[in-house]
Amino acid sequence: MSELKAALDQIVAEMANAPERGEVASYIPELGKVDPAKFGIAVIMNDGGVATAGDADEPFSIQSISKVFTLALALGRVGDTLWKRVGREPSGTPFNSIVQLEREEGIPRNPFINAGAIVVSDVLLAGHQPREAIGEILSFVRSVADDETIVIDRDVASSERATGYRNFALANYLKGFGNLNHAPELTLGVYFHHCAIAMSCKQLANAGRFLANSGRIPSLNHTVISGERARRINALMLTCGHYDGSGEFAFRVGIPGKSGVGGGILAIVPGVASIAVWSPGLNDRGNSMLGSIALEQLAKRMNWSIFSS
Ligand code: DON
Repeated sequence: MSELKAALDQIVAEMANAPERGEVASYIPELGKVDPAKFGIAVIMNDGGVATAGDADEPFSIQSISKVFTLALALGRVGDTLWKRVGREPSGTPFNSIVQLEREEGIPRNPFINAGAIVVSDVLLAGHQPREAIGEILSFVRSVADDETIVIDRDVASSERATGYRNFALANYLKGFGNLNHAPELTLGVYFHHCAIAMSCKQLANAGRFLANSGRIPSLNHTVISGERARRINALMLTCGHYDGSGEFAFRVGIPGKSGVGGGILAIVPGVASIAVWSPGLNDRGNSMLGSIALEQLAKRMNWSIFSS
């Protein structure tokens, strides 16, 4: 553990002096207010060990990282029938792209691009009012993190709704192809709110434990999902979790990861650890610039790669 803590402290010190930090997302105006100098990292080992450094206890907007949790919930709800409405292939396009949707007749490439996550929100809305579906997602996140203090940042949700023209376009397009069962504004209400969940690195790393532990949280003696489902979600995080930057992330870091435009990344070392990192500045693919570099350094130093033998 002391080696891990030393690695995190060194990364935080190096990142404080980074010559470039990327650009904070400003297309959601509320996110544009975040201080680009923030940096936090947290690692929860499968044996329960915890190491953190920097701003690891400060909540940030998890944005697309929430799509990992909504996917787990939706698979629990409808099982493999979900895959009739959403694909499992990397898109090679930006997270908010619409171009493939027309050619592929309203079936989004994967559940992590915005179009796919909107379909997942639509699945979670079935039989509920939006308020109830949002409550169910928040309860799930709180339960896997074992932390009832986690909340949704309402200012971020309404900021995104006010400027969410592309997401409205995607939802209307999905509806036009018959791949949305509810009104676009209702489904998007669920989507915007789960993206606006605020968590610290420590809370997020805790929430990822079940993915590092074959679907189980040992310390709580709680089975969240099956081992097979955890493996598959990890596979999707590796191949699709960073959009058109997924290949680069797999090449450089070598473990499953899911990014968000709030600057967070949840990364999983299967069988070993759950990691969350946060640095608000993004690279040109919309993924945390320093977060990716930090994970690359940590994975190298700890010899954490799903490809090493
Ligand atoms: O829909 C959006 O644009 C945001 N709520 C989420 C996008 C996102 O986090 C992409 N991640 N890198």
